[in-house]
Amino acid sequence: MGVQDGQVESASQYKGCSPEKVVSGKFSREAGLRAPESRRAFPVLVEIHQEIRVMADIPFDKRDGFIWFNGELLPWADAKVHVLTHGLHYASCVFEGCRMYGGEIFKLREHSERLIKSAEILGFKIPYSVEEIDQACIDAVRAQKLTDGYVRPVAWRGSEMMGVSAQKNRINFAVAAWEWPSYFDPEQRKKGIRLDIAQYKRPSPETAPSMAKAAGLYMICTISKHAAENKGYADALMYDYRGYVAEATGANIFFIKDGVIHTPKPDCFLDGITRQTVIGLAKDRGYEVIERHIKPEELSDFSECFITGTAAEVTPVGEIGPHKFTPGEITHNLHEDYIAAVHAHQAKAKAVNG
Ligand SMILES: Cc1ncc(COP(=O)(O)O)c(C=O)c1O
Repeated sequence: MGVQDGQVESASQYKGCSPEKVVSGKFSREAGLRAPESRRAFPVLVEIHQEIRVMADIPFDKRDGFIWFNGELLPWADAKVHVLTHGLHYASCVFEGCRMYGGEIFKLREHSERLIKSAEILGFKIPYSVEEIDQACIDAVRAQKLTDGYVRPVAWRGSEMMGVSAQKNRINFAVAAWEWPSYFDPEQRKKGIRLDIAQYKRPSPETAPSMAKAAGLYMICTISKHAAENKGYADALMYDYRGYVAEATGANIFFIKDGVIHTPKPDCFLDGITRQTVIGLAKDRGYEVIERHIKPEELSDFSECFITGTAAEVTPVGEIGPHKFTPGEITHNLHEDYIAAVHAHQAKAKAVNG
């Protein structure tokens, strides 16, 4: 059935629609997402926070809205894959995590380029150009009517062949977007989160495709993060195959000593887009940044520590195992600068439009 602007009442009516029609249609939202009229008197921020908490309780396959799936916007619940999917069994899957701030996806082009590169490293070609991937992300957030949120593009080998070899499998591509405020508990964040030391190590580039944001590489991250959480930590620090300090399970790491910033050389893990942004911001402020191999025995020498990532943003670290850090001026300044950078487009628009 064709859908006219403003006429749509249920998600299922959107199946097969063009993104433009969906974006301009009306959306039914999951019960509880919209605050009742009586709560509208509350300050806006409280309301947003409560709505996000309600949202966080809804399983990811039960949400409302739309997912960009192989070229069309499908109702959220219909964006399914078969149980015999190569990406599920053999981890032939790559993904991205982007954040949208004030209506703009930060560093979208860099994320889309990295996605294409990750797929190439795994030996497959995503059947969309970087511009088309950018546009799919934009359509997915518009369909969800988000101005702030998280965007997850994902590409994977389908079901045509089921075995280690999957030469003929279709390459699927989807983008989902949702509200996702803070990766870590805001209270823990203020003091600095606590990191355990992971049992698993980042593998050598000769052992795994380390430079790809590939699903398979997250197996050791989830095991390590669960082990840390089970002991009351927020996350875990992973060493690399040589025993050097590498990164957290989903974020890069920085240390400060005598006003100088030290961060591990990204030669066997992702050189994060946030990491690169923060290094640029630090240099703009005149801080010295040294990228080098860092030994675990040096951890006790550092005064401040923070992690960076699209999800984590700039998060202060208070403890790594027995080592304590105090979030200080440099961490604070870089956090502020990062938040300013992700909102820079809004500041620019305000300057132009008044
Ligand atoms: C393992 C890992 N390292 C580092 C990062 C940071 O990368 P970015 O800043 O590009 O989000 C991420 C997040 O994507 C990650 O999952």
